[in-house]
Amino acid sequence: MDFVIAVDGPAASGKGTVAGRLAELYALPYLDTGLLYRAVGVAAERAGGGESAAIAAARALKAEALEDPDLRTRSAGELASQIAAIPEVRAALFSFQQRFAATVGGAVLDGRDIGTVIAPLAPAKLFVTASAEIRAERRWKQLSGQGEAVELAEVLADIRRRDERDSGRASAPLIQAADAVLLDTSDLGISQAVDAARRIVEAARSRWETSRSG
Ligand code: CDP
Repeated sequence: MDFVIAVDGPAASGKGTVAGRLAELYALPYLDTGLLYRAVGVAAERAGGGESAAIAAARALKAEALEDPDLRTRSAGELASQIAAIPEVRAALFSFQQRFAATVGGAVLDGRDIGTVIAPLAPAKLFVTASAEIRAERRWKQLSGQGEAVELAEVLADIRRRDERDSGRASAPLIQAADAVLLDTSDLGISQAVDAARRIVEAARSRWETSRSG
């Protein structure tokens, strides 16, 4: 496998920001896999909701659907985490993600199961986390900036419910891969978190280069 960077972690942990910056630094293509689940959740809801609508939406998903700005809303995140527990939905999204991870030259993917299921052989794996309170504050600022009127306490409740659902599901639960490096961003600003991530990836890259030359 080429140099794949797998970034997993719970909602609003900063994994998207870290993954995006790493992709720029290493000039690698980047896939935010949460968008796939958000797009399926929104499409299924528009089609009337329910498990079979979600499975059909996952099988019919087109790349253009990922451009929809509505995917960033609070309700899209909630719908995503509900349909993400359906094994057939995950199965339908699997090969697209695996093909992306197999890009010649490498790739960066972020999500919940990149290091465990999608790219278990990724040379660099990070598990980005932060306390639920800090994550709620970040998500609340983001949603408020997008014009969504919501209380901080509601966002914290969303985050806790989502953590529980994502970690408790049977199919590809949110869990740190045994070989992933933990990055707790609770007390870090964006540039500090990115620097810390870069150090982790640099160490992984030298190990990967050594293993390839040996
Ligand atoms: O940004 P945030 O973490 O809130 O959400 P996201 O990464 O866009 O993911 C939304 C939901 O999709 C998560 O709560 C997960 O339930 C699901 N998801 C997943 O199951 N597997 C992935 N690889 C990515 C997202």
